[in-house]
Amino acid sequence: MDLRSLLRSSTSASHVAIEANPRLSRLLSPNLDSDAYFDVLARYYGFFAPLEAELLASPFALSDMRERVKTPALVTDLAVGGRSVNELPVCSFVPPISTRAELLGVMYVLEGSAMGGMQIARHLAGFEFTRGRASFFVSDGAAVSARWKSFLAELESLPESEWASASASAVRTFEALDRWMAGS
Ligand code: HEM
Repeated sequence: MDLRSLLRSSTSASHVAIEANPRLSRLLSPNLDSDAYFDVLARYYGFFAPLEAELLASPFALSDMRERVKTPALVTDLAVGGRSVNELPVCSFVPPISTRAELLGVMYVLEGSAMGGMQIARHLAGFEFTRGRASFFVSDGAAVSARWKSFLAELESLPESEWASASASAVRTFEALDRWMAGS
């Protein structure tokens, strides 16, 4: 068993749960409307902005973390709908990042979400209100797989004694996002 397999199995129930989150499942509905789309983006912003700020500030940050952050894409996509991020609520219960294991557990969830994002992007392409600019979900396919590969290489360097902590951190990240996405 490698760490990626452990993370995948320990978070598989959380992944199923988050796909059923009412706010996120609305995103995949054929009846998605502009308000629901921008509402989901605003909620993603409220989670990614504080969490990515912590990832960037961490002494364990990956050297290419600046290229990995998705908050700027959220700001851009919200602006397409005339939404400013200034007044948006941000999540006060993002998971803690005080060790490299916790950082990698959090990153597994954020980086991995780009995989499902590409599927969501294909669905969103059919809606006029994204103006072809759903950049948070679209990302660049080739860059996403290169970043995912280099992230998996990072995972391999974590000592086995810290795997349980990384795994707990990934589960906490899913749970916090699910709870945040369920809020109003
Ligand atoms: C709601 C719609 C979602 C759909 C339809 C979806 C779909 C998918 C799909 C199809 C994959 C597999 C991609 C592949 O192996 O090529 C995947 C992987 C993954 N997704 Fe999601 N996803 C969704 C939401 C999320 C969210 C909100 C998160 C976390 C923020 C997330 C985290 C992950 C992770 C970590 C993986 C990688 C698992 C691994 O292979 O190790 N997903 N998702």
